[in-house]
Amino acid sequence: MTDTLTFLGLESSCDDTAAAIVRLTDGKPEILSSVVAGQTDLHAAFGGVVPEIAARAHAEKLDLCVEEALEEAGLGLDALDGIAVTAGPGLIGGVMSGVMCAKGLAAGAGLPLVGVNHLAGHALTPRLTDGLTFPYLMLLVSGGHCQFLIAKGPEDFSRLGGTIDDAPGEAFDKAAKLMALPQPGGPSVEAEARKGDPKAFAFPRPLLDRPGCDMSFSGLKTALLRARDQVVAEHGGLPRQIRADLCAGFQQAIADVLIEKSRRALAEYLKLAPANPGFAVAGGVAANQAIRAGLETVSREMGAEFVAPPLKLCTDNAAMIAWAGIERFRSGAQDGMDLTARPRWPLDRSAAPLLGSGKKGAKA
Ligand code: KG4
Ligand code: ZN
Repeated sequence: MTDTLTFLGLESSCDDTAAAIVRLTDGKPEILSSVVAGQTDLHAAFGGVVPEIAARAHAEKLDLCVEEALEEAGLGLDALDGIAVTAGPGLIGGVMSGVMCAKGLAAGAGLPLVGVNHLAGHALTPRLTDGLTFPYLMLLVSGGHCQFLIAKGPEDFSRLGGTIDDAPGEAFDKAAKLMALPQPGGPSVEAEARKGDPKAFAFPRPLLDRPGCDMSFSGLKTALLRARDQVVAEHGGLPRQIRADLCAGFQQAIADVLIEKSRRALAEYLKLAPANPGFAVAGGVAANQAIRAGLETVSREMGAEFVAPPLKLCTDNAAMIAWAGIERFRSGAQDGMDLTARPRWPLDRSAAPLLGSGKKGAKA
């Protein structure tokens, strides 16, 4: 007899409305559908995500995304075994829209409801894509997140450190603004950096002189601003080659910090003597070739398998929420109609709160 679990997942904690269906058959997960409706256009004029606009758009689009996900999978609600929904952390209006929608569906269809921590969704993705076994080390690195976690179980995470101010993606986005490059900043700064000399400017490597895995990226952006202003004062503008050099130096500084801190996090993680050491990275910044290659090298040097899930599963999506819901459900967890939306929800409750909040709202 085959053993299957099919879950619908909903995600609406930031600026992507998403619905997906994931099925687990005899221990093997499969994404049957994954629909993501972005809101970039709605927020473009404001230079950031506007929570009220996001919440309204989620409320309008969730039903449509669910319908599309079911249709793509060729299933009806009656084929599901449960509904998983991001219950935090994130922009509260959006999270509430998702939780309300999930409650309605679960009550209407008589299905179990499972609330999922958005960060757990990211952190459990390497098990969906590559079957990583617990415990593994995870680096979440995007526009809103930057932290090292040891994933020990579906609800058991230890945070080794994280950014105390900006997330690296946020730093890339601000750097692009300073360099008059298009948004999102990461890909445009990376393209520019390819043409530049990373050693032409000396940027700081914040917090490398201090022990531990905490990071800081806001000072780098200030250093870039100062360097740019000096160039403009000297040259009466920003010559192309110098702009490329600035981008290359800035990117290298971020890469060096992430790589060195990963080395420390790996050393800490390896003390657990895992049977199959694994280091996984998720988030938009993982798309950066220089950063990705550096992380892969350090992982190999330390003897851990390096996993970088496909980009569309590294960035916000609902397949990761459906999967995290399945993982929680299998471990015996389930929520009732009293499930509440939480703006803050640290994965590791024993770790000290991070100071930074990231451009996309507090991410625990
Ligand atoms: O994970 P993501 O799509 O959304 C969240 O922030 O939750 O990450 C988006 C972030 C943006 O800040 C973007 O500039 C950055 O990831 N990013 C990159 C690259 N591609 C995207 N940063 C550096 N290099 C890239 N190639
Ligand atoms: Zn996210």
